[in-house]
Amino acid sequence: MISIQNVVKTYGTGNSAVQAIKGVNIEVKRGEIFGVIGFSGAGKSSLIRCVNLLERPTSGSIVINDIDLVKLSPNELRKARRKIGMIFQHFNLLSSSTVYENVAAPLRLSRTPKDKLHKKVTELLELVGLSGRAQAYPSQLSGGQKQRVAIARALANEPEILLCDEATSALDPQTTDSILDLLLDINRKYNLTIMLITHEMHVVKKICDRVAVMEDGQVVEMDSVLNLFAHPKTATTKNFISSIFDDSLPEGFLERVQQEPGSRIVRLTFIGESARNPVLAELTARYHLKPSILFGNITEIKDTTFGYLVVSLNGTPAVMDEALSFVASEGIEAEVIHHV
Ligand SMILES: Nc1ncnc2c1ncn2[C@@H]1O[C@H](COP(=O)(O)OP(=O)(O)OP(=O)(O)O)[C@@H](O)[C@H]1O
Ligand SMILES: [Mg+2]
Repeated sequence: MISIQNVVKTYGTGNSAVQAIKGVNIEVKRGEIFGVIGFSGAGKSSLIRCVNLLERPTSGSIVINDIDLVKLSPNELRKARRKIGMIFQHFNLLSSSTVYENVAAPLRLSRTPKDKLHKKVTELLELVGLSGRAQAYPSQLSGGQKQRVAIARALANEPEILLCDEATSALDPQTTDSILDLLLDINRKYNLTIMLITHEMHVVKKICDRVAVMEDGQVVEMDSVLNLFAHPKTATTKNFISSIFDDSLPEGFLERVQQEPGSRIVRLTFIGESARNPVLAELTARYHLKPSILFGNITEIKDTTFGYLVVSLNGTPAVMDEALSFVASEGIEAEVIHHV
């Protein structure tokens, strides 16, 4: 759907040149919500602006539905861009136009007939929950409502792709969630492909399917959101995850646990479907081990359960080994983190 190939973006020339994107490759599938996360200055905005050629890549290709946008004439590019909507952190609405006119603007540009235009604007305002505010001006709306107008406007020409540049960063947490719910809703209803950039892991966790982590103009990690949470590789990723999901044990925890000699402290990681397997009960029923729960943390990633439990097991080494193989065969990762 979107294929970002070897994209490099350099601003300026000579001594003052800044290489914002240093060779990025990303493939976004149709219908997917793909997130790009990174700290300030990582190059996220530069990258997403390259996708619709708001910024022209210095080199590389942006292939959308098998067409390389970089190679298009200005006229062809204008047409191709209609299929790519975009929303921004600061909404970018026309302040002197009503909500209705803001949403109608792209339709007027594409010379949509009047009755069709009215029908479309009405439908979009309903979709974003602003039917009653059609005649309001942006200054009379809250931030969340402004972003809803921007979303309606971005969808006016029925794009296949929606690009979101920090679309919720100016909003409070509750409003952020309502906008993210709206994006999910649109994604499912229209099979719209969404590429979003953010510096908030919460956004990624709530709606993204896959995510790329950017650092200093490069993608340093890319995976499904679940795998990223389960096996973060870089310090940057760990840092982002720890901002919303603490997977560390309390300080001094292992020294404090008082267990019988020979017992093992095990971390069981549950991802998705495997979380439903009654492994703790099975450890008792099959292996006569009596796991005691010492610590844990469970969360939802999109619609999937993710979490871990730290338990202690007490038995003969052979039985414990066998039990842990069984746990692994049930799709639950088991790691012995301490031998007592
Ligand atoms: N128009 C520009 N001219 C020159 N340098 C730029 C321009 N836009 C961005 N840069 C530089 O490119 C680098 C990446 O910036 P970019 O805005 O893409 O980062 P970002 O990840 O979106 O950061 P933030 O989270 O703060 O929005 C930075 O060093 C920035 O100073
Ligand atoms: Mg930015």
